[in-house]
Amino acid sequence: MAADLSPIDKAKFIAAQRACAFVQSGMKVGLGTGSTAAWMVKCLGERVRDEGLRIKGVPTSSRTADLAREVGIEVISLDEARWLDLTIDGADEYDGELSLIKGGGGALLQEKIVATASDQMIVIADAAKKVDTLGAFPLPVEVIPFGWQTSKTLIEEVLIGLDVMGRTASLRMNGDAPFVTDEGNHILDLHLKRIGNARQLSLVINQIPGVVENGLFIDICDIVVVGHGDGRVEVNDINSGTFDETRVDFLENENLFADLD
Ligand code: 5RP
Repeated sequence: MAADLSPIDKAKFIAAQRACAFVQSGMKVGLGTGSTAAWMVKCLGERVRDEGLRIKGVPTSSRTADLAREVGIEVISLDEARWLDLTIDGADEYDGELSLIKGGGGALLQEKIVATASDQMIVIADAAKKVDTLGAFPLPVEVIPFGWQTSKTLIEEVLIGLDVMGRTASLRMNGDAPFVTDEGNHILDLHLKRIGNARQLSLVINQIPGVVENGLFIDICDIVVVGHGDGRVEVNDINSGTFDETRVDFLENENLFADLD
């Protein structure tokens, strides 16, 4: 079964599995959204079932909430949890300072609130997500539906004065209709190509009326766990400055993969 997975899925799986080792009984855990985060939710579900791991999960989207319940994780709201021990989530890009672009899956608002309300955020990713400079992946910005075209124009205008290479924004679609987030908002994807000053960009965009939040996560992520298709998994802790690499034998994971599929 493991052999059936593409190298990218193997990379995502082993990153997710390695990150789950940080989760201990009694923890309140933020559960991210996306294909890598889905592996993490399944791995945690395995541990709940097989080891009796006791955790409460705060999902960052309705999709993740459904999956978490399906695999047997107790789901609570952020208002019930108030504060979390740990959040594990994917990312669309991360740089050497562990600044992130998130929101490719449209869940950036809940993801940012949940990660910010956590003692620690661990990002799980395949190696292709690592960049020298953020911005090749379009930056998602969540805007309220009212006057979204005006918000888009205002965003494109402020981009003229900022250190970015591209300056166009597009409304994210779901078929023929605008994409709608769990909070009932729309997403504008900013095609910036290169973000010279992510901190400044984030502050300026969030000043624009109609903007709810943007997908830049700065000073939020503590650890990135990176999986490779050949079984290598790296753990980079920005706070302690430590870097660790191990290798996963896919054959040893044969049953686990079968369980999770
Ligand atoms: C969802 C996200 C995801 O974490 C991000 O898009 C990465 O997704 P995937 O793990 O599927 O590559 O930010 O809003």
